[in-house]
Amino acid sequence: MEYRYLTEDIIQKIEECRKKFPLKEQCIIPALHHILDKYRDIVPEAVLELSDYLKVPVSHIEGIVSFYDMFRYRKNAKNHIRICRNLPCHLANFRSLLEKIKEKTGADVGRSSPDGLWYIELVECIGSCGIAPAFLINDDLYDGSKIKSSGDLDNILSRYVK
Ligand code: FES
Repeated sequence: MEYRYLTEDIIQKIEECRKKFPLKEQCIIPALHHILDKYRDIVPEAVLELSDYLKVPVSHIEGIVSFYDMFRYRKNAKNHIRICRNLPCHLANFRSLLEKIKEKTGADVGRSSPDGLWYIELVECIGSCGIAPAFLINDDLYDGSKIKSSGDLDNILSRYVK
């Protein structure tokens, strides 16, 4: 595999780490930090390359990326959906809204949709608790409680796919 994101300086740092620790898995988090330092976000392709380089399953590295808030996948999609997960929105069942949005867009939390149109992020309070569960698409605020049917969500999403 040819590496595009795992540059020589990153590989060198991984090798330095490997000299210090017996298990290659112990160098995943340091390697992700180096990727973050260089690209400011976790680039999905870099995760594939790191998996290939360390011979560790991609799912293992992805599990680490999604577990730690400090690691974020690159938001390279056209539209950025932010869904509030704080208490009022939690009580208003933001999870159900999230599942609907995931199903409609093909994106997942921290991961862009395959068509590159959508990226989903869970965020802290966006100051709109009165319309919980609240969410933003780019800079537009929406009241999740008004989404009663799948058609309602289709109508909203269709505004962003032109
Ligand atoms: S808690 Fe969700 S907008 Fe405030």
